[in-house]
Amino acid sequence: MAAKLLEVSGLEVQFDTSSGPVRAVRGVSFDIAEGEVLALVGESGCGKSTTALSILRLVPRPGEITGGRIVFDGVNLLDLDECSMTQYRGKQISMIFQNPLVALNPVYRSGFQVQEAVMLDKVPPDRAWRAALNVLKQVRLPDPEDRARSYPHELSGGMRQRVMIGMMISRFPRLLIADEPTTALDVTIQAQILDLLDDLRHEKRMSLLIITHDLGVVADIADRVGVMYAGALVETGDVTEVFEKPLHPYTQLLLKALPRGPKNELRLESIPGGVPNLSNLPPGCPFHPRCQRRLDICSKVEPETLEIHPGRTVRCHLVGGESFWKR
Ligand SMILES: Nc1ncnc2c1ncn2[C@@H]1O[C@H](COP(=O)(O)OP(=O)(O)OP(=O)(O)O)[C@@H](O)[C@H]1O
Ligand SMILES: [Mg+2]
Repeated sequence: MAAKLLEVSGLEVQFDTSSGPVRAVRGVSFDIAEGEVLALVGESGCGKSTTALSILRLVPRPGEITGGRIVFDGVNLLDLDECSMTQYRGKQISMIFQNPLVALNPVYRSGFQVQEAVMLDKVPPDRAWRAALNVLKQVRLPDPEDRARSYPHELSGGMRQRVMIGMMISRFPRLLIADEPTTALDVTIQAQILDLLDDLRHEKRMSLLIITHDLGVVADIADRVGVMYAGALVETGDVTEVFEKPLHPYTQLLLKALPRGPKNELRLESIPGGVPNLSNLPPGCPFHPRCQRRLDICSKVEPETLEIHPGRTVRCHLVGGESFWKR
């Protein structure tokens, strides 16, 4: 088995708001091996982006990481001072965002922005410019020589996304975090960007943490999947195993409720009932008010995470009892 590149354990993130503390991430644990693709899925507000930002220690205020470990290549990032942390950001771990305009500077030409990223590794400007053009070719930006001289607003959405991905991979990060990298794009471009990410992980043995609402994306690109609900990971496992035999009632509903959305994506929003308020979670399992298979205990005690076998976990009272193992 490939070495673990990232190991997150017991991660806790809290936002202190005027209406009280919001527990956005609650005891989240997962790992990613070299060259592996892990997808995090779950409805809006369940803590996916906050988990991702925690890895780079970029949770915005008033958010704070209040517990857990984030071990990258043997180093707990939560122990590092801010200066050592900057050695990891961009170089070892990079993040691409849903909206490329957040990451691109409107007043600089796109090629220059990639060149600048490369120069952070003390590469001289002329070599960095050639490297930038190479990267822009790699991300299959059409006419890279010309487009490198365009400003972000002169590019289409798909082109901007490619430039941003180019910028983020130009320093060959070992882990790329992609937060909804394709939602803003139309279906054809979406598929191209996913192909591109898939090529990169094969060519460079880059690991990928991809966050998405779209289970179709998970099926296309991920090796493993983590399902989040109300700040916690409720199920993890190999994509084929989870898709074929989901154990958590929430995952089962997600997979059953797969009408295609306007852009042909497989949407998650069709499960009845709402996501609970993270500043005021119900007692017991946070999913119990929406769960059609709940037991008495579900409204009283939150289940522990159970490891079915390495890499396959579930957090549900229905799983793990005697009757479950006899099935
Ligand atoms: N700046 C903030 N201030 C206060 N609370 C916040 C802030 N950012 C996030 N939260 C809380 O953290 C929870 C998790 O947010 P997060 O952005 O991680 O969700 P998400 O799963 O990425 O959702 P989406 O799919 O909509 O992007 C939210 O429900 C919200 O309550
Ligand atoms: Mg998000």
